[in-house]
Amino acid sequence: MKVEFSAFPKAFSGNVAVFVAAEKQLLATAKTLDQQEGYLGRAIAASRFSGAKGQSLVVLGQEKIGRLLLLGVGKARELDARAAESLGGLVVADANAAGQKAVTVVVDPVKGRLSPAEVAAHIALGARLRGYRFDKYRTKEKPEQKPTLEQITVVVSTTAEARRAYARLEPAVDAVFFSRDLVSEPANVLYPAEFARRAKDLTKLGVKVDILGEAEMKKLGMGALLGVGQGSVRDSQLLVMRWMNGPKNQAPVALIGKGVCFDTGGISLKPAGGMEDMKWDMGGAGAVTGAMMLLAGRKARANVVGICALVENMPDGNAQRPGDVVKTMSGQTVEVINTDAEGRLILCDAMWYAQEKFKPQAMVELSTLTGAIIVSLGHERAGLFSNNTPLSNKLRAAGSEVGEKLWRMPLGPKYDKLIDSDIADMKNVSNGRDGGSITAAQFLQRFVQDGVAWAHLDIAGMAWSGKGNDTTPKGATAYGVRLLDKWIADNYER
Ligand code: BES
Ligand code: MN
Ligand code: ZN
Repeated sequence: MKVEFSAFPKAFSGNVAVFVAAEKQLLATAKTLDQQEGYLGRAIAASRFSGAKGQSLVVLGQEKIGRLLLLGVGKARELDARAAESLGGLVVADANAAGQKAVTVVVDPVKGRLSPAEVAAHIALGARLRGYRFDKYRTKEKPEQKPTLEQITVVVSTTAEARRAYARLEPAVDAVFFSRDLVSEPANVLYPAEFARRAKDLTKLGVKVDILGEAEMKKLGMGALLGVGQGSVRDSQLLVMRWMNGPKNQAPVALIGKGVCFDTGGISLKPAGGMEDMKWDMGGAGAVTGAMMLLAGRKARANVVGICALVENMPDGNAQRPGDVVKTMSGQTVEVINTDAEGRLILCDAMWYAQEKFKPQAMVELSTLTGAIIVSLGHERAGLFSNNTPLSNKLRAAGSEVGEKLWRMPLGPKYDKLIDSDIADMKNVSNGRDGGSITAAQFLQRFVQDGVAWAHLDIAGMAWSGKGNDTTPKGATAYGVRLLDKWIADNYER
């Protein structure tokens, strides 16, 4: 799908989308189109459409206009970047549903928070993001089953400014698509070494990419990570990406990702129903890799390391057993009660490595860690666990600006006690299921070194969308890519 920006034409033709503000207030273009007979006013009166944010109404256009889509932009101050992205997504979904090849969106000035150029750029971004499709394995699709939209033209008075604004946003499209591709791939195609191989591509953007194999991880003492991978014929990998474009001598921020390319549960085998979902148990690693791509793509002035623990959790004659005790890189020992609580086992070694090797000022880890976070927060917000309130607030602010919302969850010594073990320093699950996301986070916190601001984002409910949303078709979301980028842009690049 192509995006173009163009100036206001003498007359509109084809499929056109125009703004209507709250309380049925037609904006400039809609007003012009309505002049003949007040037919837009009548169409609106005959519907529930009021111009509220996010509403839309399709009307048959007059003269050369075909499908006329009225877009509710709500009150002026509601038209922020995220709302504009939503509008872009809506236009794409509508055009595809109607089988249209091209559509024009008209950006009338709204006295809100954004300039028309910014509104136009964010509409374009939202449109592109919604236009994603993972269809490489569909070999028999008929043309009429494919999305039809080829071109979206955004009409705005300040085209040059809009193009510049969009150029700043466009790296996000590539990064989100790259991340969604990783998460969508089935596990027979995308196993740890293949994930790492694809991440190597970031070298072209200037990211330094190192890949550690099992022998190197063994030397480092990563017994917990290696224990998870030992039942798989696929080798475990530690993917280390560095983007050091910030001030010299400034400590980096570390991004850590859970990359379980498939999670069967191991010997604590999962039930068959829905197990196919566990191909996206590498959504955290997908987000971190996408974020590194975005930072490099827009040449962020920051020092960032991205570290992904890549494994496959399989049952096998060589798989680790419930009751096994493993030694982590930190020296702490873990009794593995449940081999399905594998995420924390690989993350603790990746986090320790990140801290030993890079001495980060802050460390943010993303993982599809617990089913329990879906029970708590559903598919609207990821769980945020942190030892640092300013960091939490910055992450939450970044998330809400890009539509990747977070909700802070508690930590504390009473929860921590629940993972004490009788035989080792800790066990990998508590006795019951109660507070399962919190005890998982407590486990991770035991691997945070003094003075490091740390946050854990449990994205199990967010990495995959069963029904899709405004700017995300159903499937892999790439949740976290834009959040991490925004957090770094707002806090480390001034
Ligand atoms: N990858 C799963 C968590 C998950 C569940 C992610 C559903 C996405 C959707 C994780 O490794 C896991 O199996 N967690 C267990 C932990 C339990 C054994 C303490 C869970 O949530 O049931
Ligand atoms: Mn598991
Ligand atoms: Zn898992």
